[in-house]
Amino acid sequence: MSVPSLLFVCLGNICRSPLAEAAFRRQIEEHKLDFLCDSAGTGAWHIGEAPDRRAQKIALENGIDIRHYKARQVIKQDFEIFDYIFALDQSNLNHLTSMAPKSGKAKVMLLMDLVPSCKGEAVNDPYYGSLEDFGKTWKQVQTASYYFFKNFLY
Ligand code: 4NP
Repeated sequence: MSVPSLLFVCLGNICRSPLAEAAFRRQIEEHKLDFLCDSAGTGAWHIGEAPDRRAQKIALENGIDIRHYKARQVIKQDFEIFDYIFALDQSNLNHLTSMAPKSGKAKVMLLMDLVPSCKGEAVNDPYYGSLEDFGKTWKQVQTASYYFFKNFLY
């Protein structure tokens, strides 16, 4: 049996989705689980770039080094590979839904739908914001990861 696989998708793959990937990886490590995790962007502007420095800093402060992550664009094959594709906001969810092949196995959903009190909400886009905004983003993705593994484990 293959390991469960999760993909996180925002616009540029340099701020929100790398932080979501990092938060989930931390839980995976903590619980000694075996998961495949990746992140991607619906846009192509930042392909090959490392995460935004502010995202790197917030992740490092929370015990995860994401400096080696490289931005990539989501592709149709992702829908065959991943069990879950989590969109960080509604516009990226719409983009994913519109490109999803009929044969895809992936369940595509909003990340914050994992959090019972935050259904339908977007993860804060910190790109034009401050380090504090990145901290807010981190809290949201960390909460989502907490609920995902709570449901997965118990
Ligand atoms: P992300 O943030 O989608 O969370 O990686 C953004 C990155 C780049 C841009 C917007 C948001 N941009 O306009 O280039």
